Amino acid sequence: MAGNRVLNKQLQSKIMPAEAAAALIPNGAVVGMSGFTGAGYPKAVPIALAKRALDERLKGKALKLDVLTGASTGPEQDTMMSIVEAQRFRFPYQGDAATREKINAGLIEYQDMHLSHAGTLVRYGYYGKGKNNIDFALIEVTKILEDGTAIPSSSCGANNVYFEHADKIILEVNSWQDERLEGMHDIISVNSVHGQRQPIPILAADDRKGSKVWKFDLSKVVAVVETDNPDRNAPFKAPEEIHKKIAGHIMDFFQGEVKAGRVSKHLTPLQSGVGNIANAVLVGLNEGPFDRMLSYTEVIQDGMLDMLDSGKLVAASATAFSVSPEGQVRFNKKIDQYRKQIILRPQEISNNPEVIRRLGCIAMNGFVEADIYGHVNSTHIAGKGIENGIGGSGDFARNSAYTIFMSPATAKDGKISAIVPFASHIDHTEHDVSGIVTEYGFADLRGRSPKEKAKEIIEKCAAPEYRPILWDYVKRAMKSPSAGLHSPHMFTEAFSFHNRYLQTGDMRPKK
Ligand code: COA
Repeated sequence: MAGNRVLNKQLQSKIMPAEAAAALIPNGAVVGMSGFTGAGYPKAVPIALAKRALDERLKGKALKLDVLTGASTGPEQDTMMSIVEAQRFRFPYQGDAATREKINAGLIEYQDMHLSHAGTLVRYGYYGKGKNNIDFALIEVTKILEDGTAIPSSSCGANNVYFEHADKIILEVNSWQDERLEGMHDIISVNSVHGQRQPIPILAADDRKGSKVWKFDLSKVVAVVETDNPDRNAPFKAPEEIHKKIAGHIMDFFQGEVKAGRVSKHLTPLQSGVGNIANAVLVGLNEGPFDRMLSYTEVIQDGMLDMLDSGKLVAASATAFSVSPEGQVRFNKKIDQYRKQIILRPQEISNNPEVIRRLGCIAMNGFVEADIYGHVNSTHIAGKGIENGIGGSGDFARNSAYTIFMSPATAKDGKISAIVPFASHIDHTEHDVSGIVTEYGFADLRGRSPKEKAKEIIEKCAAPEYRPILWDYVKRAMKSPSAGLHSPHMFTEAFSFHNRYLQTGDMRPKK
């Protein structure tokens, strides 16, 4: 029934259809939207905006907006708005095929940014002018309470910053989200003025120090839209053999660390990227010898629910959910239990370098390619442009105690090697990377010089068919008169793998 989830009288008077709310947003506006990994993003107003953009186009006009979010969103936002080219500018992360295509075609300007930095950059006014910095906040919430505060939705993202820095606020109240999410969030807003920051009071992954609700200026709210649409919950795939092998090498590595006395069997708080490899690692951790673990990460996925259920994981801190449809059903069923174990925080806290360094996290993320000296490309596909973005991988990679990057050793049926002489784009330098892992093994880069790293990476991680050509490159680079012998390269050949792929469709030389 209309208004069921809008208990505040003042805001009840602002309830309107999505089309009417979308009509309030003018061409050229800067809109800060909720949404992180397909959770908690607005689902009705973006569709209305996309329809309006299409109508405008048919009339020879345009509706183009600058869209800021937490991270990736869902089809109702990114796909719909990108197809009709309603996004002029996109920040700070995306993971959507239609958006990727438009970015790589030069039709959307995209700033791919560390997720912990997004809030500060908005506060400093880099995305809009005026007193408040951005024009609109378009935020999904679970419920508006009588006092005008709101129960957050399934992600926190950068909503706190958009609430604070928008001139006008549009709320989507989504009754698909379970009301019992109330109490799962911990909202701390930081002073991000350079030189005036105070310590963030999170001393353990499961500390709660903030508010359970969003607080915002009610006089800024211009529209409330009621929705009932599901989050973009991707189906969970059981780990394949290759993912299990990668997970196995990571388990072996940590058993070695425990044996060496460098970490206890509780490990340090886990950060895990999303996707099949990450889920396989979580399965491995759930079945392995470690226990009473904590997680300080970005997203809660199915594997973490398994670990919470088994008691292997004590608590998990994140900024969003990214669960399968089955995971969602299970989550809702046991939500009262999970509320004690799961904490959702704004992304500037979940990904905060100070906290990550303090906790000594274990960062485990996917990579596109790594080079022989340990530089990692997480974002760019040579010859095709950007894939997704750096997301939180840089926040965690730079500041964790253990920074591990994982990928199959090859892509596209072996035609592409994930280990190359020189990465075609570098997101994480060799100085931040402790380990690289593929199905063939774990390259431990700690305490090694670049040349020693090259040996470890080629021998442990490269696919066997690529090892001889990688060695051939290193050996010739060592003899090349122009190469310094610290991290030897031949610039005329550093991208030979990529060039060969672009010319022949295969990184391997023709026999
Ligand atoms: N060259 C060309 N293409 C490559 C490639 C390479 N070296 N490595 C992978 N690919 C392609 C795959 O074939 C696949 O293409 P497809 O979609 O056409 O099938 C695509 O890139 C994605 O690769 P996939 O093997 O499915 O990996 P994934 O889903 O595990 O994603 C990343 C890997 C790196 C793209 C992903 O982890 C990512 O976006 N990372 C950056 C953000 C991040 O780390 N977030 C978590 C931080 S908390």
